[in-house]
Amino acid sequence: MSFDRVWTDAHVATMVARDGDPLGIIEDGAIAAKDGRIAWVGRRRDLPDGAAITTRCDGAWILPGLIDCHTHLVFAGDRAREFELRLEGASYEAIAKAGGGILSTVRATRAATEEELVASALPRLDELLAQGVTTVEIKSGYGLDLGTEAQMLRAARRMAAQRPVSVLTSLLAAHAVPPEYPGRRADFARHVAKDILPAIAAEGLADAVDAFTDSVIGFDAEETSWVFDAAKAAGLPVKLHADQLRDDGGAALSARYGALSADHIEYANAEGIAAMAKAGTVGVLLPGAYYFIRETHPPDIAAMRAAGLRMALATDCNPGSCPSPNLLLMLNLGCTLFRLTVAEALAGVTTHAAAALGLSDRGALAPGLRCDLALFAISRPAELCYWLGRNPCIGRVVVGQ
Ligand code: NIG
Ligand code: FE
Repeated sequence: MSFDRVWTDAHVATMVARDGDPLGIIEDGAIAAKDGRIAWVGRRRDLPDGAAITTRCDGAWILPGLIDCHTHLVFAGDRAREFELRLEGASYEAIAKAGGGILSTVRATRAATEEELVASALPRLDELLAQGVTTVEIKSGYGLDLGTEAQMLRAARRMAAQRPVSVLTSLLAAHAVPPEYPGRRADFARHVAKDILPAIAAEGLADAVDAFTDSVIGFDAEETSWVFDAAKAAGLPVKLHADQLRDDGGAALSARYGALSADHIEYANAEGIAAMAKAGTVGVLLPGAYYFIRETHPPDIAAMRAAGLRMALATDCNPGSCPSPNLLLMLNLGCTLFRLTVAEALAGVTTHAAAALGLSDRGALAPGLRCDLALFAISRPAELCYWLGRNPCIGRVVVGQ
């Protein structure tokens, strides 16, 4: 066999379940790559000859490169003032209704240039990369007009050109009602579906379409369906901010559209969860936002397990509900707040996160998949969930490099 590169003296969590081990652990393992793909993975002593460059990993653990499948990394300004107001008693919802919240970030983002958006988002991306992240999803949603939504997505694409990482973009124009449409939520949803979405799709700026379904501060199911129908017409997959603050039937709606994922889903009901599992829609859990807005109604993990729903975990990094580009912290929060097992949490940032983005070429370590690796100085995989905001990542490989 011929390889370009080989990593040895490592323990490998392949994330391909076998013999009752959900992590697919290979102790004293090795991984070989050829042309950016994994060519071989197994016990070191079984490694065939054919290595060009060999890296000894000193007993480190190798996992698939981590995937943050839900972020709003591109935005201007911050919401520290809103944080203060919330400490004085205002709720996330009350601030949004008073024209703050998402709309205050919209004002800052509209005032920023594309260069400024890239410059402010890159340090957030770099924090994720330092933790072993090799694929990240980035949403628009702080423009709420065609020009600024396009600019946010272009900024995200430019970040991908400036760092060794895969970026997938999602158009989230249906995130809030902009000031130009006072009290005209349905009109704005129609504008997104008829004008903004087709123009963004024609420019190839979005890999998927997202929306915020919420009957009070987002869009209702019917308005969301206009946007989703337009996405289908443009050939783009959909995903949804669903049932974050109340049960609006978002889980069932996402299943009906065969969405890649429904995200947050704290208030999703058991029927909606079962429908998602049946439709292959991934449930993306965002424990950082749950924690930060001091939500007290946890997602129904028992129903998700019973339905066999694939659960992913992501940062939701955004200025309002989760100002944290720290995916490893989310592993801990997912375990502590939602009682996920270590295996569930780790699948949530690898295999299931890949599924939430519609990617079948990554998220696990097996021959033929992209050679995206994350190396950690840990003694067992549980350490990745155990440390509270510590980063044991010592290396990253992206397409074999
Ligand atoms: O994922 N729920 C709506 N959207 C974001 C929050 C955005 C913001 O507050 O700026 C979320 O939580
Ligand atoms: Fe979000």
